[in-house]
Amino acid sequence: MLSELDQAERLPARQQPEWYDAEALRDARATLSALPPLVFAGEADDLRDRLGEAAQGRAFLLQGGDCAETFSGATADKIKDRVKTILQMAVILTYGASVPVVKMGRMAGQFAKPRSKDTETRGDVTLPVFRGEIVNGFEFDEQSRRNDPARLVQAYHTSASTLNLIRAFTQGGFASLREVHSWNQGFARNPANARYDQLAQEIDRAVRFMDACGAGDSEDFKRVDFYVGHEGLLFDYERPLTRIDSRTGKVYDTSAHFLWIGERTRGLDDAHIEYFSKVSNPIGVKLGPDTQPEDVLALIDRLDPDRVPGRLTFITRMGAKRIRESLPPLLEAVRDSGAQPLWITDPMHGNGITAANGYKTRRFDDILDEVQGFFEAHAEAGTIPGGIHVELTGDDVTECLGGVERIDEDDLATRYESLCDPRLNHRQSLELAFLVAEQLKTVHRR
Ligand code: PEP
Ligand code: CO
Repeated sequence: MLSELDQAERLPARQQPEWYDAEALRDARATLSALPPLVFAGEADDLRDRLGEAAQGRAFLLQGGDCAETFSGATADKIKDRVKTILQMAVILTYGASVPVVKMGRMAGQFAKPRSKDTETRGDVTLPVFRGEIVNGFEFDEQSRRNDPARLVQAYHTSASTLNLIRAFTQGGFASLREVHSWNQGFARNPANARYDQLAQEIDRAVRFMDACGAGDSEDFKRVDFYVGHEGLLFDYERPLTRIDSRTGKVYDTSAHFLWIGERTRGLDDAHIEYFSKVSNPIGVKLGPDTQPEDVLALIDRLDPDRVPGRLTFITRMGAKRIRESLPPLLEAVRDSGAQPLWITDPMHGNGITAANGYKTRRFDDILDEVQGFFEAHAEAGTIPGGIHVELTGDDVTECLGGVERIDEDDLATRYESLCDPRLNHRQSLELAFLVAEQLKTVHRR
């Protein structure tokens, strides 16, 4: 079983860093192999079943978090604010559209970044590009940009402590529906969270009603299942954490519940597709605007030959300008083939622009427009829009243009903290959730 993975890893693999120090790499991989799994196979199976529900329109997936997590960003406050933001968005969606929401962080492992160039030039200095803190440092100097295998182990420990806090928050009472108000505390006042407060009051009334009926003690009110996923990019990290499940003898990547394959690494003959075809976790694949129907059908055959509900998620990231033309042919071909993967929208990665002052950014209106295009395309094809994948943070950053605060190009410099792509801030995230809830309501009325 595991030897098949080793074979897959030896196929041509894109976006893998060169480590230079072979012995340090061997040590790091051996260390990772001996460390405990971060998640358990049974949890990944539960997630797969829930994603299967979403694929059939009986749930909705909300996946969100940083483009690139950082080691220094794994503080209690930052993790808590991200989890709170996702919980708030989930409540807006659940209450607004009366549909169960599967919650997943791009967290506890989202450290590796595929890049379009191998080097970065500033002035007359050219250095290796930043590939995420699991590989090298963001600082633009030779020492920091040197790939260091010890970072693989640091990524594991940072993921473990992040996941531990997520589990504590979501299982220890903080995520109870009785706390809906408190999730809004600590965030600056603005129209989006004022609207959230109103909704929280309605939920309070509903909870009091359930209490009065004697149904308020349900465990479902107190705990939330919160899953984690990241791009399964680096074999030097994923392979040592891929293990055989003692219950079933099947292979799971225990670095996360959910792994996705990026737009740049999903070649049918490349290592990533072969590797994850052997792994039993639910798997996602990103699809850009040039994806052809035959590519998608081939991906289904490779990754989900048995058509297991929830096994395969397509994360479309077409860009607002192209989604209405690029997505429908894919939906129709898959629908006609009888397969029912989960379709979710990533309205971030097809909408990147560079502002006049050099910042990488995205327009909030383009993000909304892509979400709308996603719902329209599914309505036309008679298929199911099953979720959303966004880059967000609980912080008041100024990375994406627009939204209630009308962030403009000059504001970008105020608080731009992402090491990679621009993220929605807390209020933009809530605003987006209200919009998605409106769209989703129409689906559930259909
Ligand atoms: C990402 O999700 O951060 C990413 C790199 O996405 P994509 O593969 O869609 O470009
Ligand atoms: Co990104």
